Amino acid sequence: MHHCSSITLDTVRSVYDGAEGDLWEMLMGQQIHVGGLVSSLDLAEQAQIAAGSRGVDLCCCNGAGMRFLLRCRQVAHMTGVDATATVLERARSRNQAEGHGDQTTLVEADVCATGLAADAYDFAWGEDAWCYVADKPGLIAEAVRLVRPGGTIAFTDWLEGPAGLSDDEAARFMAFMKFPSLASLDDYRDLLEAQGCRIVSAADTGRYAAHIDLYLNMVGMQLTSDVQRMVGYNMDIFNAMAGAMQDMQALAHAGKLIQGRIIATVP
Ligand SMILES: C[S@@+](CC[C@H](N)C(=O)[O-])C[C@H]1O[C@@H](n2cnc3c(N)ncnc32)[C@H](O)[C@@H]1O
Repeated sequence: MHHCSSITLDTVRSVYDGAEGDLWEMLMGQQIHVGGLVSSLDLAEQAQIAAGSRGVDLCCCNGAGMRFLLRCRQVAHMTGVDATATVLERARSRNQAEGHGDQTTLVEADVCATGLAADAYDFAWGEDAWCYVADKPGLIAEAVRLVRPGGTIAFTDWLEGPAGLSDDEAARFMAFMKFPSLASLDDYRDLLEAQGCRIVSAADTGRYAAHIDLYLNMVGMQLTSDVQRMVGYNMDIFNAMAGAMQDMQALAHAGKLIQGRIIATVP
């Protein structure tokens, strides 16, 4: 596991409270994760998320994952937890606009200490977000605490790939992305097993590199002016950002960064 101690929860909040978060939503859509709907459908199917079940989305952001599960898997109720007030406000209004106000609860908290009742959920859900959480052991322990015995933890995440990152590569990537820690599939496997979970699957989705290509193409071929506007037409910032994304692209194609999909059963 790589760590970057200078990035705190406040750093992450300032991303999702401002232009950087808006930029990710512009590039990825409301579902701010690699693979959008395809990834969500795959995760839900592999995890056998059942109609009528109750789930908790840890790092729910603007609530797109909650709405997906209510709409496409007919879950009965979703609780969303996020530490950024701005995105929770968006989640509240989008949930209501799509008719899901009554089936959703939103909680402003650190996902490592949600304050929610233990054993209250059939599943815990996360999509490309736990990379922003510094205390991964604390996060996994909280997910296990929230899910009833026999329930499921299902998530995708940005991970160190099998080719491994040098300390320098990891530090530059994490500083750009504002990730306080970066896990691998094995790190998550170990953390879940340490909590007594059974790993159902832990795999590379194979989507990551092609999607970084896609985001770079969008910045270079279609959304150039929109991205420049978001950085106040400051070309130094724009060029630095484009350079960091190109570095990310090279790491992705070298198998040093992946999107992982992990499903585990709670004891
Ligand atoms: C990439 S977005 C999540 C995207 C969302 N899962 C989706 O698929 O649309 C990351 C979110 O994690 C939240 N976050 C990061 N660290 C957190 C923490 N320790 N506790 C709660 N929320 C956190 C941020 O506020 C942000 O809304």
